Amino acid sequence: MNKSIAILISGEGTNLQAFIDAQKEQLLQGKIAVVISNQPQAKGLKRAQLANIPSDTINHKDFKNRDEFDYALSKTIDKYQPDLIVLAGFMRILGTPFVTKYQSKLVNIHPSLLPKFTGLNTHQKALDANETEHGCSIHFVTDELDGGPVFAQAKVKVSQQDNKHTLANKVHQLEHQLYVKCVNLLLSNRLTLNNQKVFYNNEPLIGTIGL
Ligand code: GRF
Repeated sequence: MNKSIAILISGEGTNLQAFIDAQKEQLLQGKIAVVISNQPQAKGLKRAQLANIPSDTINHKDFKNRDEFDYALSKTIDKYQPDLIVLAGFMRILGTPFVTKYQSKLVNIHPSLLPKFTGLNTHQKALDANETEHGCSIHFVTDELDGGPVFAQAKVKVSQQDNKHTLANKVHQLEHQLYVKCVNLLLSNRLTLNNQKVFYNNEPLIGTIGL
């Protein structure tokens, strides 16, 4: 069966580009059905257009509140019936009804080694905390911000010379590889969520998947 994904973005879309490139190279175990942005100016929308992938903008500013925005978003997603919803730099918090509706098929990438440094400015936070290691995490989404079950992580060494830009750059390279790898595992049902527990090859996942 041909699986499909919806990718939600808000900005640059370099993770989206990694999925587009993987799809072009036939390295994605499914098809990108749609790219949805809450930001009309998101550069990722151009990336989708260039790759002839359907895209849509649901501008959060057009809605009175979070519930109405989430409802419109879910209506658009449902038109494409995706098997997986991939948050790739999507900068809106999703409400409980939305998250509950899509639980076990909603994943996010976060630029830190969770549970360290939730929220924004994670690279600066890692530097300020004198971390020697930093990285990214991929997790199922729950209604706790950056709090759902983490199933994959990749690490970089933090050097004395690093600033938030060099560190962001290093982490981004890892994100692109790890996210494509994990989405493929999810699409092929080798990675699943059952009762808030992650299973890898039908066994409870111990630790996290890496590159
Ligand atoms: C990434 O660092 C991701 O971890 C975070 O937002 C950033 C998105 O980058 N959630 P891009 O838009 O994919 O380039």
